[in-house]
Amino acid sequence: MTQIWSPASWRGKPIRQVPVYPDPGALDAVETRLKTHPPLVFAGEARSLKARLAQVVEGKAFLLQGGDCAESFAEFHPDNIRDTFRVLLQMAVILTFAAAMPVVKLGRIAGQFAKPRTADMETQGGVTLPSYRGDNINAMEFDAASRTPDPARLMQAYAQSASTLNLLRAFAQGGYADLHNVHRWTLGFIAGSPSGERYRTLAQRISETLEFMEACGITPDSTPQLRVTEFYTSHEALHLGYEQALTRIDSTSGDWYDTSAHFLWIGDRTREASGAHVEFCRGIKNPVGLKCSPSLEESELLRLLSILNPGNEPGRVTLICRFGADKAGEKLSRLIRAVVREGAALVWSCDPMHGNTITSHTGLKTRSFERILKEVKTFFDVHRAEGTHAGGVHVEMTGQNVTECLGGAQAISEEDLSRRYNTHCDPRLNANQALELAFLMAESLRAERLKDARFAASA
Ligand code: TRP
Ligand code: MN
Repeated sequence: MTQIWSPASWRGKPIRQVPVYPDPGALDAVETRLKTHPPLVFAGEARSLKARLAQVVEGKAFLLQGGDCAESFAEFHPDNIRDTFRVLLQMAVILTFAAAMPVVKLGRIAGQFAKPRTADMETQGGVTLPSYRGDNINAMEFDAASRTPDPARLMQAYAQSASTLNLLRAFAQGGYADLHNVHRWTLGFIAGSPSGERYRTLAQRISETLEFMEACGITPDSTPQLRVTEFYTSHEALHLGYEQALTRIDSTSGDWYDTSAHFLWIGDRTREASGAHVEFCRGIKNPVGLKCSPSLEESELLRLLSILNPGNEPGRVTLICRFGADKAGEKLSRLIRAVVREGAALVWSCDPMHGNTITSHTGLKTRSFERILKEVKTFFDVHRAEGTHAGGVHVEMTGQNVTECLGGAQAISEEDLSRRYNTHCDPRLNANQALELAFLMAESLRAERLKDARFAASA
C-alpha cells in the first residue's frame, strides 16, 4: 500500500542536509508568507516540458540543461542572466543543427541557490562554524553572524528568482532569441577563438541553411518559431520547506505542482528511497531529475523509479549521471541494461562536471576540460553500443569569461585559475569552453546521425 502523500508528508521522513535555524518560529512565519505569494511557473508549462522530455525518451529530441552551480545574491545582475541565457542558446543552435533534433533548453537558474554539503561544520583557524549552504540559507563569509541560517534569505531568493524568470521570459519571447541573432554571436566566437578553424565548417553550414531558408521565404517575420524559443527553469529540490510553500494544486488537473520551477531534481546526497526528498518529489507532478554517482546500484535505481514514476510515464524522470570520466563507461552500461530489462521510460543525461572535480596545487577546486569531454564522449559511446539514446547533458557554466576550469582552446592553466575565479561553489565552464563543448558534442551527434542514416538507407 502506498502511503498518502501531501506537500508536507516529507516532514515525517528521515532527512539529510537540513540547516539548523536558531528560531524555528521565524522560519515557519516565512514559509507561511511564501504560501501566499504567486507561483513562479504555471502547471501547464511544467506539463509542456514533460511532453518535450517524453520526446527525448523516444530519441526524438535532446536535452540541454545548464547554468551556475549556485546563484548568488552578490552576482545578481541583468548582464549575468543575459550572458548565461545567450551561451545556452548558442549551444542549443549548434546541437539542434548537428543532431537535427529539437533541443529542450533547461536553465539551472531562477532558483538554484541551496547547496548540499559534505560536512555540517567548517573549521578555520581553530574556529568552527556552520558550513555555507547557499545564499538562500546563509552567507559565505566566515563569521558567526554570516553563517547563521536566516529565513529572510528565502524571501530574497524568491524575489530574485521571480525577476530572473521575468527577464528570461522576455528574452525567450521578445525577439532576443531570434535564431539569426544567436548564430551571429556564434560567428563572433569563431572569429575570436584559437580553435575557431575547427568549428568554422559547421558554423558555415548553419549560415548557409539560414540563407537558404530566407530565400525560400522562411524568415522570422513569416515564421515566428525562428524568433522565439521555449526556455524552462530548474534547480535542486533541497530546501523542502521552501518547495512545499510553493507547491500548489493546479485548478486544471487537480494535481499538485511545485511552482518554484518547471523541473526539480533530487541530489545524489539526498536520494534515499525512504528519505524526505524522495517523498516530496514523488507527489509533485513536475518532471523530476535524479542525480546519481557511481554508488547507485541497479536495484536501487529500479526501486527509486517505481516510487517516483509508478505509471512509467515518459518524460517524468531524467537520470542525471555524474560518474567521473574513468568510471562512466562500466557503470553506465550496467544501469542502462537494468533499465532496458525493466522497460522503464527514462531520459539519460550526462553531468560530466561533478565526478571530475579536483583540487589544484594552488588549493582551488577545479575541473579539467579534457576529463569533462572524455566523460561526455564515453556517454555517447556507451549509449551507441547499447542501442539507447544519449538524451542530454547537464553542465555548470556561465556566460562570463571566468577562469575556473582548466584547459580548453584558451588553455587555462593552474596559474591562471586565480585570475577570475568567481564561483560561489563549483568551478564552471566559461562561455568559450561551453561553446567548445557544444561543438565537440556536435561532432559526436552528427557522426551518430549519419551512421544511422546510412544504416537506414542500406536496410
Ligand atoms: N523555436 C526553435 C527552437 O527553439 C528555433 C529557435 C529560435 C532556436 N531561436 C532559437 C533554437 C535559439 C535554438 C536557439 O528550437
Ligand atoms: Mn555543483
